[in-house]
Amino acid sequence: MFPLPEWAPNVHPLIVHFPIGVLFTAALFDLVGLVLREQAFLRRAAMMLYVLGGVAVTATYFTGEAAADSVFLPTEANALLTEHSDLGHYVFYFFGGFAVIRIITFFTGLERMFLLRAALAVLGVAGLGLLTYTAEHGAEMVFRYGVGVQAVDSGPAPIAPPSDPMAAGPQLIDGGGWAWKPTRAAAWQEHMVIEGDLSSSSLRGGGEQDGARRGDVLGLTPGTGPVTVWFDHAMETAQIDAALNLDNFNGSVMFVHNLVDVQNYHFTVLTDGEMRLGSSENGDFYIMDTKPMAASSWHAYRVVSDRTHFRAYVDGKLITHGHGDTAPSGHVGLRISGVGTVLLDFMQVVPVR
Ligand code: HEM
Repeated sequence: MFPLPEWAPNVHPLIVHFPIGVLFTAALFDLVGLVLREQAFLRRAAMMLYVLGGVAVTATYFTGEAAADSVFLPTEANALLTEHSDLGHYVFYFFGGFAVIRIITFFTGLERMFLLRAALAVLGVAGLGLLTYTAEHGAEMVFRYGVGVQAVDSGPAPIAPPSDPMAAGPQLIDGGGWAWKPTRAAAWQEHMVIEGDLSSSSLRGGGEQDGARRGDVLGLTPGTGPVTVWFDHAMETAQIDAALNLDNFNGSVMFVHNLVDVQNYHFTVLTDGEMRLGSSENGDFYIMDTKPMAASSWHAYRVVSDRTHFRAYVDGKLITHGHGDTAPSGHVGLRISGVGTVLLDFMQVVPVR
């Protein structure tokens, strides 16, 4: 691979313009060739440009897949990336297949039939519509939401202090979702649904990180067996932000979302030095992606569930990424199993659509 300029987020934005330019030129040659039928070079040029365009789309597709795993997204751009990615797949299949068809029809001489030639030209123009729509989604990510642009801060919005700290549980957010910064340990018990044995929840000092004090955080100690805790607020899509410290805990901690009941939910779990992303269907686990992940000290976790796309980040870096069936509407919470105490600084959940 050639060296990337240090300001470039990845190679995708550097090459996306190539298939767009080449494929539009190919369609132009096709259309002019319908008028100037005797000019054989127009036919040949269109075929060669469509083949070149197919190769360029393939490179764009694979660099896009890699780009999606390297960028951190502001909340509003999550759904856009999902759509852009789905459209990118269709573009790849379309122009990959179209290049093959053009080679076959050219070398077998079938293209000399005017009707077939006209049909191919029209099909190519239709493909350009799909390409334009895909590129527009990509450009909107960059120019509206600054994806891959260095100056953007995509961290969770600061959680407003609760109006009544004594009553404070999760605060509902305008536009859907909720946020919670623990100020009273008992609020956890009062406001959350708890299934299983939660031995204790207590407020403790969060210690220091990077020279700054974290303030009070919630310590969650499970009893025997797993305990699942969630806020009763069903959502179809979700971006979950939370800060956790697992230094005094030995076991597994799951972010659960799209939770219908304790047997059926999607999750991102931190366990055995790994992060795993998957779902539980009637208690059976299905894993979509697994990556090594050392969870020592405080980390900012972000889990995104957007219909069929699931991503999990640690400190702004994507760790796991998977795809599955459309996740049902469900609640968001934590499922903890093990020995010791999990420290939770805050949790914020917003829909991504
Ligand atoms: C194959 C057809 C595709 C085309 C024509 C395309 C086109 C584009 C365009 C025009 C942009 C905006 C670039 C800019 O303005 O600088 C973009 C950005 C982006 N695209 Fe694609 N794309 C394709 C496939 C994909 C796929 C399959 C994915 C991921 C699954 C993807 C992920 C991204 C991401 C993350 C960005 C934001 C900029 C970055 O950091 O790279 N693209 N794309």
